[in-house]
Amino acid sequence: MSRIVYVNGEYLPEEEAKVSIFDRGFLFADGVYEVTSVLDGRLVDFEGHTHRLERSLRELDMTNPMHMGDLLEVHRELIKRNDLQEGGIYLQISRGVADRDFVYPAGLKPTVVLFTTAMNLSDSPKAKTGLRIIAIDDLRWGRRDIKTVQLLYPSMGKMMAKAAGVDDAWMLEDGFVTEGTSNNAYIVTHDGRIVTRQLGHEILSGITRNAVLRFAREAQMVVEERPFTVDEARGSAEAFVTSATTFVTPVVEIEGTVLGDGKPGPVARRLREIYIEEARKSLAV
Ligand code: PDD
Repeated sequence: MSRIVYVNGEYLPEEEAKVSIFDRGFLFADGVYEVTSVLDGRLVDFEGHTHRLERSLRELDMTNPMHMGDLLEVHRELIKRNDLQEGGIYLQISRGVADRDFVYPAGLKPTVVLFTTAMNLSDSPKAKTGLRIIAIDDLRWGRRDIKTVQLLYPSMGKMMAKAAGVDDAWMLEDGFVTEGTSNNAYIVTHDGRIVTRQLGHEILSGITRNAVLRFAREAQMVVEERPFTVDEARGSAEAFVTSATTFVTPVVEIEGTVLGDGKPGPVARRLREIYIEEARKSLAV
């Protein structure tokens, strides 16, 4: 069934939605995006996503063409028009349309695109079995804190994982894990401490990460924000990833090493439960 999508002020069937071949998002990956999850037909942490969107735009000297209230309305309208109960809303803002030149003119009108994707988030099969991952070099650019649409390397990473017969890849820089191809990465030490890389230009500041770390601390769990190696990860008690589309999903195998008994660990399972419960409670918008 065809979706209704949003392009520059219009709601259209997906087949009719068009963007110029001169759009800088297409020619230079000159654009930013957000993926906000939808549970029970409502948005999860919309405010967090809009704050990060504003920051991404600011870092690239782009102007936000829409008020956040209007953006919220578009999100809600797409949920309604597509009868979306569970899944995600993809939002992309690119710098706009200009003849191909590295140097862009001032005053471009940004291109705004949104669409919905129905997904099983709360009861996903991978949450029950856990993910198997490999480690690959992190060959992305140096400003991964900006959520840009230049996702070629993460896409290559997922293809490498697929070719290796596993689910995903964690990326390594100077021997330390940065993050997953499209998620933040965590390990749990044998004495129950949750370890995840500290924020910086090297990783994306995940909206789910922010919530999960808050819930973990509220539940009296110890959180350490510091880099860790693949060897430390392989020797850890458990591991997991977080993102808007995976919530908290356990990792059960890293580079061929099975963690514990090969089943999702108790800390990851508990955090997943807490996250979904809290997300459901806070579905105000
Ligand atoms: N990806 N790190 C990277 C590199 C990501 O691409 C993502 C999200 C995250 C987690 O961020 P959040 O918790 O705000 O979703 C971390 C989205 C889901 C995507 O590209 O589809």
